[in-house]
This record gives sequence, C-alpha cells and structure tokens, in this order.
Amino acid sequence: MLEKDIERILVDHKKIVEVSKKLGNQITNDYHDKKPLIIGLLNGCLPFLAELMKHIDLYCEYEVMSVKSYHGGTKSVGNVKIVKDLDVSVEGRHVIIAEDIVDTGRTINVVKDLLTYRGAASVEVATLLDKPEGRIEAFVPKYIGVTIPKVFVVGFGLDYDDYYRNLPYVGVLKESVYKNDIS
Ligand code: PRP
Repeated sequence: MLEKDIERILVDHKKIVEVSKKLGNQITNDYHDKKPLIIGLLNGCLPFLAELMKHIDLYCEYEVMSVKSYHGGTKSVGNVKIVKDLDVSVEGRHVIIAEDIVDTGRTINVVKDLLTYRGAASVEVATLLDKPEGRIEAFVPKYIGVTIPKVFVVGFGLDYDDYYRNLPYVGVLKESVYKNDIS
C-alpha cells in the first residue's frame, strides 16, 4: 500500500543493516573503556536506534527524548521544541545522540548544546542519514550511515505527516503525495 507513494528506494534494508553494523563496530571500538549513554530523538530515531544498538558491544544504556522541528510538512519551520525531556541526568556521561537524519542541523545543535550545558562529559552524534546540502546551521556528525542528496525521504523512522515511518527502507516520496502541501 505504502509502496505506491514511493518514487525510488534510496537506501534499502540490507544497506541500513550494513551501515548500522559498521557504525556499531566503530562506536564499540571508540568507547571500549567507557559506558556510553545512547540518547535517541523520538519519533524518527526508533528503527535506527533499535538496529544500531544490536551492533554495539559495550555496557551501555539507551534513553529517549522527543524533539520536534518539522510539524508535519516537508519543510522545517525553524523552531525546535522539546516535547518530552529525558528522565535521567547526563552529568559526567559520554553521550551519543542517535538520529534518523541531520538536515538543517537545527535540531541536533539545540540538543547537543542542551546536553553539554547539563554537564555531559562528551556528546557525539550517530545518524543514519546525513543531508549536508540541507544545512542552515553548520554541523558535522561523527558517525554517519549514508550521505544523501537534497531530496525528501521517508521510511525507517522518517515520516511525512507521521506516515511512512514503518517502511523497512528509506525512499524518495513521490511529489504528487505532498504537492498540495502549503506548509
Ligand atoms: C526530524 C528528524 C530529526 C530532525 C532533523 O525530526 O528526526 O530529528 O527532523 O532535521 P533538522 O536537521 O532540519 O533539524 P522531526 O522534528 O520531524 O520529528 P520526528 O522525529 O518525530 O519525525
């Protein structure tokens, strides 16, 4: 049913597992003497967070917080809101933020600054997708799964109007689906 709205698959499921494994191995090596706290940014992070965690062989915990920037449409409206905060302290912790995508860079800058302000010992970012051509604020994630061009993608956590998150791959949404969207 959902497939008819997809123009083309950009990152298939096999590739997602492969890059998650690569990032998980890197994190395992880089944090071999630490117990990092992985923080997923809801809602988009869930499929990637679940896949990534399988490949991290460390004593680590994960927590989530909910941060919104897009409010339903295909474009970021520019303000970032914390909808659900963390239940734990990050003071003195080595934090890795797990994201589905870094686009304008606004969300990740806000969250990184906040966690640093709260006393995290270090804050790095692991993102499934990086869209550098979308940047409005400079940001370079340490762990990048796949770098993508400036196209509107959905699937594996990424949504349009909260749909398509359950697709097992990342695909380009047909323009006809959102062409009447004025947001
Ligand atoms: C999306 C995505 C990132 C953010 C990236 O979240 O999950 O958190 O936008 O965009 P940016 O780099 O332009 O800030 P969104 O706010 O749409 O919420 P969601 O995770 O619930 O989809």
